[in-house]
Amino acid sequence: MNKEVAEEIGRIVGKGRCSTDIADLYVYGFDASIHHKTPDVVVRPSTVEQISEIVKLANRTLTPVIPRGAGTAMCGHSVPVRGGIILDLTGMNKIKQMRVEDLYCVVEPGVIYDALNAELEKHGFWFPTTPGSAEACTIGGMIATNASGMRAIKYGATRDYVLGLEVVLPTGEVIHTGTRTLKNASGYQLDRLMVGAEGTLGIITEAILRLAVKPKASAMTVAAFNSLVEAGKCVSNIIAKPLLPSAIELMDSVTIKAVNKCMNAGLPDCEAICMIEVDGHPASVEEEMCTVEDICRKSGSISTQASSDKKKISEWTQARKAIMPSLSRYGEKFVSVALADDMSVPISRIPEAVEAFHKIAEENGVIVGTYGHSADGNLHTKMLVEPYSDESWKAGERAVGQIYDKVLELGGTVTGEHGVSITKAPYMQKERHDSLGTMRAIKKALDPNDIMNPGKMFDWQGSIISHLRYPAFLDQPCERNDSCEGS
Ligand code: MLT
Ligand code: ZN
Repeated sequence: MNKEVAEEIGRIVGKGRCSTDIADLYVYGFDASIHHKTPDVVVRPSTVEQISEIVKLANRTLTPVIPRGAGTAMCGHSVPVRGGIILDLTGMNKIKQMRVEDLYCVVEPGVIYDALNAELEKHGFWFPTTPGSAEACTIGGMIATNASGMRAIKYGATRDYVLGLEVVLPTGEVIHTGTRTLKNASGYQLDRLMVGAEGTLGIITEAILRLAVKPKASAMTVAAFNSLVEAGKCVSNIIAKPLLPSAIELMDSVTIKAVNKCMNAGLPDCEAICMIEVDGHPASVEEEMCTVEDICRKSGSISTQASSDKKKISEWTQARKAIMPSLSRYGEKFVSVALADDMSVPISRIPEAVEAFHKIAEENGVIVGTYGHSADGNLHTKMLVEPYSDESWKAGERAVGQIYDKVLELGGTVTGEHGVSITKAPYMQKERHDSLGTMRAIKKALDPNDIMNPGKMFDWQGSIISHLRYPAFLDQPCERNDSCEGS
């Protein structure tokens, strides 16, 4: 990118909102994925007009634009693989309207999930999707990735709450999709197209979100099992009852050990646990929890420990949320990385899936921690790799390919909640092979110069062990060679 473009951006946004400082560029080259690449300029716009001007300039000069929220994405969404402009949207963080009587609010993209909920809870409402990164992640990033979390089984994903969007298209044109009404059948549902587009079709500058009523009570139980497969079967036994819990978090022995060691969490030391939450009216919560524990026992659970104490529920939830960082301390030489990260399978196929993941891990000599939002079939597998070892990365990549083949064989998807970007790209291309052409046609129509977050999803080629943030000595392209393109 030439110097004049950066100077022009500086003029558009004003002093202090644009940087080409080497330290800024370096840190903005990361997100929560295994990847890193340094951008050419970082800009912190404060209005939709500024964003529109920047995008017009980028389109004229064929400069990549990468929208960025809090950088919590786990697959490289905000890593600028072709350099260009990082558009940091965290400064646009106003809740512009709170219309509880109309069941919607209007927010800027940089509003943090927990901050929005703190405001909604004052009125008895919430935005219940519950991502793991709730304290940090932004609404814009959640929309861009169709993020969700532990309560998606009952409350759905981000897409279920988006009523309308303001979007700056790759030409700089500003459009408004959707409405402020709960129903809308007027034309293509373009907000749905933007949800999960991962910043490849435009920049979300405002969102109209539907509100949900916050339940009055909740209870949780931790059910322990002697086998992961039994725990997996228990999940579909609960769902088939029929019963709709607000969450069922499955954890295998690797993840239990990790959080017990790191957090002194005191979870049952066994092969698997299910943390099951029900919510609603206090009377129905009590009744549903009795039914849940009964199903757990009949499914082979060796112990259960129900509680409706907020402090206890919060301790269990914190232990669950701490899995990812705790796994990095599982063994001294390992780091826990987001590889084969968040597949979803039909709920009844969980036992088969988790059994296969562990077998594949063993055959490839890698350690895999398996856990996840099992109530909706969404599983996380974090791999423990030795970051300085070629062999370890290669074994991890082999295991990833086999895990995803199994997931597709079971009728699942390679990503239930984190999205595609780089780390899932080859596997998503396999999964979506007959609709890739349609996706490319949409991209070409909206972004003919391919400036919006280019080189990702259907356009990524080659190995995912690429542009690594770790100084491994692979002969794969990475940050050491700035001319590389991931092939
Ligand atoms: C979670 O479930 O906590 C998040 O999706 C992050 C993860 O652990 O993969
Ligand atoms: Zn998750």
